[in-house]
Amino acid sequence: MTNHDILLNNGVAMPLLGLGVFRTASQEEMDHAVQWAWEAGYRSFDTAQMYGNEDLLGNALQTLALPRRQFFLTSKINLGNMGYRRVLSSFQESLDRLQTDHLDLLLIHWPGQQRERLADTWRAMEELYSAGKVRAIGVSNFLPRHLDWLAEDGTVVPAVNQVERNPQMNQNHLLAFCRQRGIQMEAWSPLRRGDLGNGTVLGLAEKYCRTPAQIVLRWNVQSGVAVIPKSVHRERILENAAIFDFTLEPEDMSLLDGLHTGRHTSHDPETFDFDDEGNFLT
Ligand SMILES: NC(=O)c1ccc[n+]([C@@H]2O[C@H](COP(=O)([O-])OP(=O)(O)OC[C@H]3O[C@@H](n4cnc5c(N)ncnc54)[C@H](OP(=O)(O)O)[C@@H]3O)[C@@H](O)[C@H]2O)c1
Repeated sequence: MTNHDILLNNGVAMPLLGLGVFRTASQEEMDHAVQWAWEAGYRSFDTAQMYGNEDLLGNALQTLALPRRQFFLTSKINLGNMGYRRVLSSFQESLDRLQTDHLDLLLIHWPGQQRERLADTWRAMEELYSAGKVRAIGVSNFLPRHLDWLAEDGTVVPAVNQVERNPQMNQNHLLAFCRQRGIQMEAWSPLRRGDLGNGTVLGLAEKYCRTPAQIVLRWNVQSGVAVIPKSVHRERILENAAIFDFTLEPEDMSLLDGLHTGRHTSHDPETFDFDDEGNFLT
């Protein structure tokens, strides 16, 4: 375990920094991104059935012949693969595409609003966990009420809740709730998808002689939240990893906390729902 790992509630170590690969669309892009990330010290890779690129990531990891035990691999159950049977079959397909015999973390990608479907999905994931096929199971985009449902209907407490988190969507109430339950928060779109022009962020970048991306990533990790910034550019992959050698002062953490607008860049988990085939209902 390195200094930049955190321990999940079941004792599994997860890197605080990982590479996101949403929209990394070609084998060439994936091969380069994974290689540059590995060289820069990333030991965690985040994909999803929904991204349609598990095979590209699997190929890239295979080509580089990276020792399996030295990296942390996350994928997510797609909207149309919820429910007991589909979780089990689609999980095996994910393993095949990723060319591995286990995942480090498997997440439910979106909760939707159907409690019974979530309970069935979680039951299958608990089985995969008990069978040692995944080292940890968790959720994504879950609100307190979705976490309450799982607490009542399941037996395993999710290890991770991966949610949108950047200064404009700080999720601080949810963060406190997750902490209380022993659930690690992980930030998706930590760079707000490249929208880094906020004046406060630019000012802090100047003050600390860092880039805007480094300021917002540091704010996340300093809050104890894991980050999975995505880039396919070498300089940015390196830049996004150089966040462990400086500290934001408490008043600057507060300044960043104060930028919250509550505007999501994607679906609102409060209302977002879909049918069993994954078609949007809202
Ligand atoms: N669970 C979920 O529902 C969910 C939803 C969305 C995303 N995710 C995961 O979270 C990961 C990250 O989120 P994201 O991809 O939406 O957004 P993000 O990481 O916040 O931002 C990625 C965007 O910022 C650009 N970028 C990267 N580094 C930069 C830098 N240093 N300076 C300026 N721009 C930079 C990238 O462009 P280039 O690639 O051209 O450098 C890309 O356009 C995803 O890849 C995925 O793995 C999960």
